[in-house]
Amino acid sequence: MNIGLIGSGGREHALCQKICSSKLSKKVFCFPGNAGTYKIAKNINIDILNFQKLLKYIKFYKIELVVVGPEEPLVRGITDFLKKHKIKVFGPTKYASKLEGSKIFMKKLCKKNNIPTANYKTCENEKDVKKFIKENKLPLVVKADGLAAGKGVTICKTEKQVLKVSNEIFKGKFKSSKKIVLEEFLSGEEASYFVIVDKKNFKFFGTAQDHKRVGENDTGPNTGGMGAYSPAPIIHKKLERKIIKRIIKPTLEALKKENHPYQGFLYVGLMIKNNDPYLIEFNVRMGDPECQAILPRLKSDIVEIINNTTKNKLKETSIRWKKEKSMSIVLCTKGYPGNYKKNLKIDNLENIKLEKYDKIFHAGTKFENEKYFSNGGRVLNVTSLGKSFILIRKKILKLLKIINWKHGFYRKDIGWKVIKKNANYKW
Ligand code: AMP
Ligand code: GLY
Repeated sequence: MNIGLIGSGGREHALCQKICSSKLSKKVFCFPGNAGTYKIAKNINIDILNFQKLLKYIKFYKIELVVVGPEEPLVRGITDFLKKHKIKVFGPTKYASKLEGSKIFMKKLCKKNNIPTANYKTCENEKDVKKFIKENKLPLVVKADGLAAGKGVTICKTEKQVLKVSNEIFKGKFKSSKKIVLEEFLSGEEASYFVIVDKKNFKFFGTAQDHKRVGENDTGPNTGGMGAYSPAPIIHKKLERKIIKRIIKPTLEALKKENHPYQGFLYVGLMIKNNDPYLIEFNVRMGDPECQAILPRLKSDIVEIINNTTKNKLKETSIRWKKEKSMSIVLCTKGYPGNYKKNLKIDNLENIKLEKYDKIFHAGTKFENEKYFSNGGRVLNVTSLGKSFILIRKKILKLLKIINWKHGFYRKDIGWKVIKKNANYKW
């Protein structure tokens, strides 16, 4: 069948590769894609929030299945729109996407269903904020209610900072909402658990740990993610049962009860404390760069899995994984996540020799006049599989050295927690 894929990041290049290798795929179209997808599929450069225009292309190219990568079109209702026009689409509805699109919606759902998460208050003005500060200990976490391109969460150590950050949001810093969720700070170790969901069932779709801070040893400002590895060893069987029983099942049941069953990937962002899981956030999509670490471990045909999910046949679908571990390191443009330049030439990509388990996923790149150029802050995701994280990381760092992009930088310590923890293991 002809398949459409929406998005332009490393996640979408990883999805595109898997989709292209499926026996069920005929032609693959990326809206708008990047230099990586350009090489294996057809890129169509349009605004992915212009649903009418998108529909025209989908009809023109006889696209039979649409896979949505990023959150924004989902939160704005792309699934409802395409379904109304009889196009098969993989991704949650506008209502279900509020799990990511509105922190207030997500927290209310947790409270109503006793799902473990940080204690919180919805605030609309300074008075609400001051009351919560009085009743709780610092640090506190200020979260913009709506989508904020990864910039909506601030961990505040002082009362002054809580008030400053909250007031900025009340005054309209983010277009999506002027409200905030103010919540207690959870300590512990972060991990992400993924499931694929149809209207009747859900199945495991990998675990990963991301590295959000720009600097080594987890320092500096937050980013979209500097690197990830999979699986997350902290999530053992017993903990997994708790995640499913306490968080995933009650959430999916609650949405079903409200007549808005979930369908799509669900990203469960967790804080693990004393072997208990606490929900930090839901995302209604795969993570980026978590997806680039997880998908190379998938053995089964992704199109078969996704297509069966849209038909609510997930239960009969087998999802098998390679036993190898995986890691992906993000090559960024100097200056990211602050100001950085675009249109910088990237050499050395054509001649680089990749072995069976190595992959270079493109993120913010474009291909013009037979040359690669940067087109964003996160540019390439160098990924590899292997037996141990330390060896995989060595391999990736070697590849990054060969790429030797003079405008770029990357973290050399991805996986430091797990590598240090297992320092006594024989690699
Ligand atoms: P989010 O945008 O919800 O993913 O939050 C971004 C990051 O902020 C998370 O990955 C955590 O590292 C951190 N964070 C969010 N909420 C909390 C919390 N209640 N306690 C501690 N850290 C948090
Ligand atoms: N890497 C974090 C995210 O995709 O939200």
